[in-house]
Amino acid sequence: TSQTILIKGGTVVNAHHQQVADVFIDNGIVTDVKPNIKVSDEVTIVDATGKFVMPGGIDPHTHLEFEFMGTETIDDFFSGQAAALAGGTTMHIDFVIPVNGSLSSGFKAYVEKAKKSCMDYGFHMAITKWDDTVAREMEIMVKEKGINSFKFFLAYKGALMINDELLLEGLKKCKSVGALAMVHAENGDAVFEGQKRMIELGITGPEGHALSRPPLLEAEATARAIRLAGFVNTPLYVVHVMSVEAMEEIAKARQSGQRVVGEPVASGLVLDDSGLWDPDFYTAAKFVMSPPIRAAGHGKALQAALSTGVLQLVGTDHCTFNSTQKAFGIDDFRKIPNGVNGIEERMHLVWDTMVASGKISVTDYVRITSTECARIFNIYPQKGAILPGSDADIIILNPNSSFQISSNSHHSRSDTNVYEGWIGKGKVEITIAGGRIVWENNELKVKRGSGKYIKMPPFSYVFDGIEKADASYISSLRAPVNRFKGMQ
Ligand code: URP
Ligand code: ZN
Ligand code: ZN
Ligand code: ZN
Repeated sequence: TSQTILIKGGTVVNAHHQQVADVFIDNGIVTDVKPNIKVSDEVTIVDATGKFVMPGGIDPHTHLEFEFMGTETIDDFFSGQAAALAGGTTMHIDFVIPVNGSLSSGFKAYVEKAKKSCMDYGFHMAITKWDDTVAREMEIMVKEKGINSFKFFLAYKGALMINDELLLEGLKKCKSVGALAMVHAENGDAVFEGQKRMIELGITGPEGHALSRPPLLEAEATARAIRLAGFVNTPLYVVHVMSVEAMEEIAKARQSGQRVVGEPVASGLVLDDSGLWDPDFYTAAKFVMSPPIRAAGHGKALQAALSTGVLQLVGTDHCTFNSTQKAFGIDDFRKIPNGVNGIEERMHLVWDTMVASGKISVTDYVRITSTECARIFNIYPQKGAILPGSDADIIILNPNSSFQISSNSHHSRSDTNVYEGWIGKGKVEITIAGGRIVWENNELKVKRGSGKYIKMPPFSYVFDGIEKADASYISSLRAPVNRFKGMQ
């Protein structure tokens, strides 16, 4: 049951424009955006005077019901999404993990998990092994199942990690089927070595996690993935950019004209590694994620890169484990399940650190939290905009109100929160998802099963110039060969 809603008198913000206007929502869709819309008495009126009316957040990077490191994330598709809605995020893109390397089995499993959804979602898919079946299944996923992005893990040796040969095969396949290649950029072999060193030194606590995988290993893998994507001539999306060093590789590649997207995540933007050094295991372990949260300074640099367009959009990598699960690694940091929360906090944290501090405009806020994600994954303007015809996924943010973060009040099932105690400016007072008010007066009104799967259409690299670039690359290779032959 959808509602007919009129949002009155707010400042409606899209990525390219803002205006004081009313927004009319009917049957889950935005049908009109203009000043002074007149409606009948039956319509629900929401007064947004003095507030910002913006597209709901889209989180490009989450892990709900993810079986990882011997356990499963504490947030499932219902609790994770309910938390998201309470924080102004109305869509997320989760990572399907193949089952024993089978993409179709992985897809089926995630379709099953996502049946409890209370908001819209899409899927990326991880590629963890390579053979003809995987290659064929990638094509099926793109053509029939609505997946247009594949993630390659260069870390997690012995588990999700793949080698350069597989990465090259994967990049070629992405290019030929019109999918975007994504990469977790850390050198997994070197991380393995770094971990051994820590254990030999007797460093077994959570601080060993960060020490074993320093920024240079993130930079190396980022640079390698960028160069291999350049060699194949296909676009690349680098997930969870956590360090200055990795960001600079992306900056350099973009400056040279390569199509590379960089995604910082909320934790990397606003936290530093001080928590990891807390003498209390549980306090420190909650900050363990990969790549690690870096020393002070990295976050500020990533914020600057985001505000200048070197990085394009913000994710969370929401991947929550409670204290009992984190305690698997109480004697050995290598066994601490990797991941932090953020799906509920991202919209508030980005507003507080980027907009309330004057670093970016409100239109840029919409771009980096919503529109750019929709554009990159080819679902704009169904998502990421408040335009006639767009899905009615909308938030109303009061810039004069404040928010507060605590595990006592958050909606994730986790018993901890890496942003515990954060108080900031700008509060999402109302969330509308699929045309229904799902968050109002600090109360959730969510419905299991109401979320839709959003299929993401493939890209046409062949037509958007890549083929031409390939041809000129090949002729540039041939030129010296031909010259050499001429000399004989
Ligand atoms: O620590 C992390 N990031 N956990 C989630 C898996 C991943 O690498 O994205
Ligand atoms: Zn990752
Ligand atoms: Zn992740
Ligand atoms: Zn509640």
